[in-house]
Amino acid sequence: MDDQDQSQVWAQRFRHFAQVDCPQDPLYVAICQAIAAAPELLALMSQAPPEQAKVNLLLAAIHERILTGVPHGLAAYFPSVGGARMPDAQLAGLLLDFARAQRSALEAHLRHSRTQTNEIGRCAVLWPALQHIAKLRGCTALNLIDFGCSAGLNLGVERYRYRYPHFSLGAAAGPGVPEIECDWLGDALPPSAHVWRLEQRLGLDLAPVDLRDPAALRWLRACLWPYDRERAQRLQQAVDLARGQAPELRQSDDALGLLAERLAQDPAWAASQPVLFNSWVLYYFEPAALAQHRARVAELMRPYGLVWLSAESPAQAPPGLPLPPLAAGLRADAATLWTLQWCEAGQLRQQALAWSHPHGRWLQWLV
Ligand SMILES: C[S@@+](CC[C@H](N)C(=O)[O-])C[C@H]1O[C@@H](n2cnc3c(N)ncnc32)[C@H](O)[C@@H]1O
Repeated sequence: MDDQDQSQVWAQRFRHFAQVDCPQDPLYVAICQAIAAAPELLALMSQAPPEQAKVNLLLAAIHERILTGVPHGLAAYFPSVGGARMPDAQLAGLLLDFARAQRSALEAHLRHSRTQTNEIGRCAVLWPALQHIAKLRGCTALNLIDFGCSAGLNLGVERYRYRYPHFSLGAAAGPGVPEIECDWLGDALPPSAHVWRLEQRLGLDLAPVDLRDPAALRWLRACLWPYDRERAQRLQQAVDLARGQAPELRQSDDALGLLAERLAQDPAWAASQPVLFNSWVLYYFEPAALAQHRARVAELMRPYGLVWLSAESPAQAPPGLPLPPLAAGLRADAATLWTLQWCEAGQLRQQALAWSHPHGRWLQWLV
């Protein structure tokens, strides 16, 4: 494909992103349309390695530059830095000028950064899921391992408050406590009261986000959309809580190997119910790597009683598990399926626990 054809493909992707992925964010709609009409900006995408070349990588790169506080008229459009200017006819020109001034930093992001999220909205499902697991296993102390933990914010699950239409769960409301609103769909009730606590927490990631590193934290913020102030505030509150009581996060290219070692060698890990959790991680795996991952997790279930809670796209559901029906009007390919696997009397068991919005805005409890 020559440069001109490539440019047209990218223009189409930016227009599609504006129409389909972010129609609720007027700034990103305007920026995507401006990029689609500017070959000089589209050419930036050639800097990204093919597996990272995504529309939202350039959007995050631009947002990150804005969050650094670079003085420029474009910042006036970004609510994330206090801007209140609505997209208008000047935006496209200001964007081009900004991109020229920031070209080397933008190119560096496109070459080396990966879009990164750590979405605590998912904890609105994780909390009742842990309650269910504690009840299922008849225990009160859980050890939570977050595989693909990003900054480890989901390890703070019991420090947040969850508001569903008719009830609340989690921590008591208070200053600095993130509140997550979640629409509880369907007739199934939440798992009945069962007291549980997290004893040990461990986050494992190929590239964990170090919250003490201002650039890493800024990149996490940059990957959120500038108009979603609620999500940004929640992220900040969760970061503040995590800074006070930081969980252990470990970088590893073989996270399951590290977990196996921990389970075998650390008595504190043998003493309580281990729960392996992943949310939107297996999505990155090739089919063969995913099959190998499943087999390795299964090997940890019998000797250590490991329970595996997986929140992924239904395409990554455990083989053989029928997809449960989803509430009317919702699309499975745009939802997260929460599944549980464990070993009971020597047999592997599996269960679909819930459907949810990928960021936890709604959930449909299934058990
Ligand atoms: C989309 S983020 C999700 C982060 C977090 N689980 C959440 O729900 O917000 C995916 C994370 O998985 C990590 N990851 C991808 N492949 C991995 C692997 N093989 N081992 C450990 N972490 C991995 C990435 O580095 C990234 O932090």
